[in-house]
Amino acid sequence: MRTDTPQPIRLADYRPFPFAIETTRLVFDLSPSATRVRAELAIRRTGDGDAPLVLNGERLKLLSVTIDGQALSANQYAVDAEHLTVPETPDQFVLTTEVEIDPLANKALTGLYMSGGRFCTQCEAEGFRTITYFPDRPDVLSRYSVRIEADGGLPHLLSNGNLVDQGSLDGARHFAEWVDPFPKPSYLFALVAGDLDVVTDSFVTMSGREVALKIFVDPGQASRATYALDSLKRAMKWDEEAFGREYDLDLFMIVAVRDFNFGAMENKGLNIFNSSLLLADPETATDADFERIEAVVAHEYFHNWTGNRITCRDWFQLCLKEGFTVFRDQSFSADMRGAVVQRIKDVRALRARQFAEDAGPLAHPVRPSSYLKIDNFYTATIYEKGSEIIRMLKTILGAEAFRKGCDLYFERHDGEATTVEAFIACFTETSGQDLSDFFAWYEQAGTPAVTLTSDYDAQASVLTLNLRQSTAPTPGQPTKRPLPIPVAIGLLSQGGESLRDTEVVLLDKDAMTVRWEGVAQPPVLSALRGFSAPVNLTTDARPSDRYVLFSADPDLFNRWEAGQTLARDLILARAAGAPDEVGEERYAEALGQALVDEAAEPAFKALLLSLPSEPDLTLLSEEPADPLALHEARDALRIRIAIHLGDLLRRLHGEMQSSGEFSPSAEAAGRRALRNACADMLSADPHDENLTRLVGHYEASRNMTDMIGGLYPLVCIGGEAREKALSAFYDTWAAEPLVLDKWFSIQSRDPNPDVLDRVVALTRHPAFEPTNPNRLRALVSAFASFNPARFHDPSGAGYRFLADQILTVDKFNPMTAARLVEPLGAWRRYKSDLGALMRQELERIAVHPDLSKNVLELVTKSLT
Ligand code: ARG
Ligand code: ZN
Repeated sequence: MRTDTPQPIRLADYRPFPFAIETTRLVFDLSPSATRVRAELAIRRTGDGDAPLVLNGERLKLLSVTIDGQALSANQYAVDAEHLTVPETPDQFVLTTEVEIDPLANKALTGLYMSGGRFCTQCEAEGFRTITYFPDRPDVLSRYSVRIEADGGLPHLLSNGNLVDQGSLDGARHFAEWVDPFPKPSYLFALVAGDLDVVTDSFVTMSGREVALKIFVDPGQASRATYALDSLKRAMKWDEEAFGREYDLDLFMIVAVRDFNFGAMENKGLNIFNSSLLLADPETATDADFERIEAVVAHEYFHNWTGNRITCRDWFQLCLKEGFTVFRDQSFSADMRGAVVQRIKDVRALRARQFAEDAGPLAHPVRPSSYLKIDNFYTATIYEKGSEIIRMLKTILGAEAFRKGCDLYFERHDGEATTVEAFIACFTETSGQDLSDFFAWYEQAGTPAVTLTSDYDAQASVLTLNLRQSTAPTPGQPTKRPLPIPVAIGLLSQGGESLRDTEVVLLDKDAMTVRWEGVAQPPVLSALRGFSAPVNLTTDARPSDRYVLFSADPDLFNRWEAGQTLARDLILARAAGAPDEVGEERYAEALGQALVDEAAEPAFKALLLSLPSEPDLTLLSEEPADPLALHEARDALRIRIAIHLGDLLRRLHGEMQSSGEFSPSAEAAGRRALRNACADMLSADPHDENLTRLVGHYEASRNMTDMIGGLYPLVCIGGEAREKALSAFYDTWAAEPLVLDKWFSIQSRDPNPDVLDRVVALTRHPAFEPTNPNRLRALVSAFASFNPARFHDPSGAGYRFLADQILTVDKFNPMTAARLVEPLGAWRRYKSDLGALMRQELERIAVHPDLSKNVLELVTKSLT
């Protein structure tokens, strides 16, 4: 056990930094295990009094410190493991430090590190302090100029801003000079040096400026960058149209790296991406990859305004940039790919990740008030719930007032590091609405439960709606107040005609009653249309009402939702030992009807065909969850559908096959998604005809979407079909790391009972590299998060496996290790014998010596 108890950082303790860093000059002399960094900081005292200068710095070997060219003697400064302190300084001075660092030994992948022989950086949130001594906090903005010197074997030397000079030096070395005219916080600093191929293009902004666009990738990978480049141009255009935001530098660069702790990073003018979110071609990337690339390229680009031009005052305000930017990228994707399908996918992800987080020991507000390691707060709550809050704001204010508020925010706070309060104040001002109650969405954790019941008075043609809300306690917040919840409601007739268009009811008290007059016939309620608020809704709807919505709701989100709710209730009933066989047949029949609806798009039908996932069912089941029972109940429903709709599924599977050239368009992707969803369902009934069809699907596939769509069903069927397909896949793709990640992850999601042994064996496969986060997550996280029936093996072996992995990875990459803790943290939700075994593993981790703060914080919170 650690002896020192790390102290939490609190929002209430925020104090401005007492100095301004007017300019920052960095000189890098790159060398894999001994890089030298000289920093010249032009500093001016801004706070009153005689506060000491305290700079952050970790794992740095300090070589020299000077003030205005005078070396400081040992008694003029102090260095500890985390700081450089100069107790007495002039009011205005230049501080120069020189340090040495070891990028090659850096497997934590934060700060300056090496990936595939190239240097790269990741500074958000607190990586810059492992590069040089600096006030490493987002409210200290400075103008940077950077000189990089390196060997000729690293031809591209990149940093933020504009390239102002480059040339050769003695001894086959060369240099580049970069100047970024925009003041920025240290977390947006970036440097890349390496042998890279570059794809170039340009974009003319709305005011007519030409911007050079460059994407840098591994040698030989240039053709895989074209989709990202195309996405970037569309995102740039979209941001001009939707938000009036124009790009500001003459150059915009993106670099792909294989070793990266998360998705991507919005460094000013030099975004750095996990290669899995940048590189794509039809042969190696699935439609889901294309979709993610489009979204993440847009996300990082949109940060140029929401994050870079306007940044966060402190890390508690992280949602200010992340929630808003997710909202912006979701809106972009909706425009690119269709609003309904996009909304369904976003809500699915929200429920799977954020609702789970909100229901467990790690629940926290969108704006938390304390943390141990900020890295642990890059969560679904900050990102996805943060986006939902912005979406509600737009719903409540209306599109026009929302846009006015955004315009004011961009104008007023440009160049600042600001707060969520300042952001909301812009909307209060432009709309004239009091948003003080709305602010509680940022401060209160937990998913509100909303119930809606109704009474219909036929005589008076009056419908009475009774709405209530409540939020269960979350850690540190025992009592909750009511939130303003926009509930979008429409009415249908029993025959499925629209009776009344969508109206938004703002539920802002614990309970309220709404009277709707002129309702001429007994209605079916369609509530929470478009998922108008991030809540769990319970209604008194009967299954027959849900079938009306499932077949006829003009709000397609709710049409899909009705199907999901019906399926969920059937699965939960069966898992609880009370199967409703008649209901299951009725559901399969209605699903078949929905699948032949000519008016519906294939992408939408694919979503109708996918049943609630096992992790979602775990979250929704009332009793302590039994993952194996849920898996078996879900499978039983799949088998029934596969049998009942066999002919239809086979027909659709055939019809959706395309013969022409591959197109990444949403329309073409929708057809592939439907075909793959049919294949997936048919694998539940693997008689000879279906098996032959599935093997044929796999063997004839000519793009990665179809190939994965064929491979997973064969893995589920198991036996020889599985072995043959997996080994053929491996032989084809052994040299393609991104595809090999898919090979690992598909095996970790194998539902067969022997999967844990197979996963453990895969950790000894020569291609398993725990130091690469993509590979690690493909095997370990995918197993723990997406294969609940096997992860929760009654022996506890799945838990033991995960805990061992956490301890191994924590030794070199705490951020990534911490991300593996969550599946164990949910121990309270499971049957007590399982929960006890999960807890036992958390306790084993907790007492481990030298645990990182990252893992310690999550394990401790999970246990209390
Ligand atoms: N700002 C990046 C993005 O969302 C993510 C940075 C994640 N950093 C971290 N320490 N987890 O685009
Ligand atoms: Zn972001």
